[in-house]
Amino acid sequence: MDEKKERTLTEKIVNLCLRRGILSPNSEIYGTFAGFYDFGPVGVELKRNVEASWWKTFVHMREDIVGIDGAIITHPAVWKASGHVDAFNDPLVVCTRCKKRFRADHLIEGALHINVDGMSLDHINEIVSSVKVVCPDCHGILAMEKPFNLMFKTHVGAVEDEASVAFLRPETAQLIFINFKAVQQFSRKKLPFGIAQIGKVFRNEISPRNFVFRCREFNQMEIEYFIHPAEMNDCPYLSEVSDDLLQLCTEKMQLEGKNEEIITMSVKQAVNEKIIGTTWHAYWIARFLRWFTEIGISSENLRVRQHIKDELSHYSSETWDIEYKYPWGWKELMGIANRGDFDLIQHAQHSGKDLSYFDQEKGERVVPYVIEPSAGLERLIFTILLDSYYEKSEKDEIKTVLKLNPTIAPVKVGVFPLMKKDGLKEKAREVYEMLNNYFVCEYDDAGSIGKRYARADEIGTPFAVTIDYQTLQDSTVTLRDRDSASQVRVHISELVETIRKALNLSSGGIS
Ligand code: GAP
Repeated sequence: MDEKKERTLTEKIVNLCLRRGILSPNSEIYGTFAGFYDFGPVGVELKRNVEASWWKTFVHMREDIVGIDGAIITHPAVWKASGHVDAFNDPLVVCTRCKKRFRADHLIEGALHINVDGMSLDHINEIVSSVKVVCPDCHGILAMEKPFNLMFKTHVGAVEDEASVAFLRPETAQLIFINFKAVQQFSRKKLPFGIAQIGKVFRNEISPRNFVFRCREFNQMEIEYFIHPAEMNDCPYLSEVSDDLLQLCTEKMQLEGKNEEIITMSVKQAVNEKIIGTTWHAYWIARFLRWFTEIGISSENLRVRQHIKDELSHYSSETWDIEYKYPWGWKELMGIANRGDFDLIQHAQHSGKDLSYFDQEKGERVVPYVIEPSAGLERLIFTILLDSYYEKSEKDEIKTVLKLNPTIAPVKVGVFPLMKKDGLKEKAREVYEMLNNYFVCEYDDAGSIGKRYARADEIGTPFAVTIDYQTLQDSTVTLRDRDSASQVRVHISELVETIRKALNLSSGGIS
């Protein structure tokens, strides 16, 4: 997609978010605060629905996963043990003329239009020293700075000194690792099992950008899935997904310069040919691809890219990102890493506590390996908005529609009286109050009926109920489907059941 088109679609989404109370920059009345965003009334419903779908799919519907909700500020030793104090850094450059600081990899990407994913620090340094990239503000020469640690610092207690420094968590994962033993004991789970968490994290990104794609405060949805080290290839659920097709961009393809290309193969083939290292890893990649399509993201816009060696985080032996085809190119939507026993070993060493697991059947003590599916909620919401946005022209007017899956739509049903007079408004209020017991509904009687349909379409409301003169005679209403704009007449007594049935159809629609 060219740059103009990129700007246009992203701008349209940002515009819609501001206009309809989905998301807005934080502290707007003070001129905004870069990297921080607030959800409005429509956005918070969307957010809660996405979270609820994730929690239902990966916690409530599975016997092998339990949830926790850990603290945002933890003992600073946690972040020393996890490696974040020493290794959670971004490459930073400073302009030798205007002294402004920038994230080196982003500057290179923007100026040279090359993919920097996986580029080593040495390579970045080489490009910066070659003066191929200059300061975007004053064209001064850039110099590499000491890598910049992304954790936000705070102080705990009344004294602000080195001893009182603590960090706002940059990922939810560590809260799961430090609680591993206790949660395993409370829940009496046997390997393999997972611990899930959704919560706020904070990263002092040098250059937050692309709306909420990269922000400084966001929510993560993470699972740490613990597996016996000898059973990384014994995933019992693999058969559920083995015929699913994956669009892959492997390490080998990237080393051959085919960063933008894709090969399609089944999960079975990717495992048999050892392209994906373990069956558990393949299962979790496929399961998340399925969930993304279950909540309405088009599968053709998703691919799975392997991290090349230089790019792997300090804790990972193998990582695959599920990437989305954003207007600015294929980029990470979520990551699925094989963290091995890195974290449990680190915390055991630093805390002096035994974090191993006793396998009663095998009569042995092991430190489990971990597969970690990790997604950012705000980035996912932005992706959903990009993927579901379309425009249709009606009577020379361009109308915006969000083709949201009904499960995550902020409002499920709009209720409209055709007119405010002749008792239609009163009847519509009655229908609204009845429906509101079952679904999130919105009553709207302002403006023409066409305008009201348009307002509902714009926030992805899948169904609209209109109360007209016929309603007063035979107690039927029209039920309109957002995507086809088709309408059927339904008796009020059957409305709840009809809508409930339609909402449960994954693609929406009135039957
Ligand atoms: N525990 C592993 C971990 O945190 P990560 O790749 O750094 O891995 C996981 O982050 C996910 O969090 C990413 O795939 C992305 O969806 C989201 N994410 C990361 N940084 C973000 C940022 N600055 N703004 C919004 N989302 C972000």
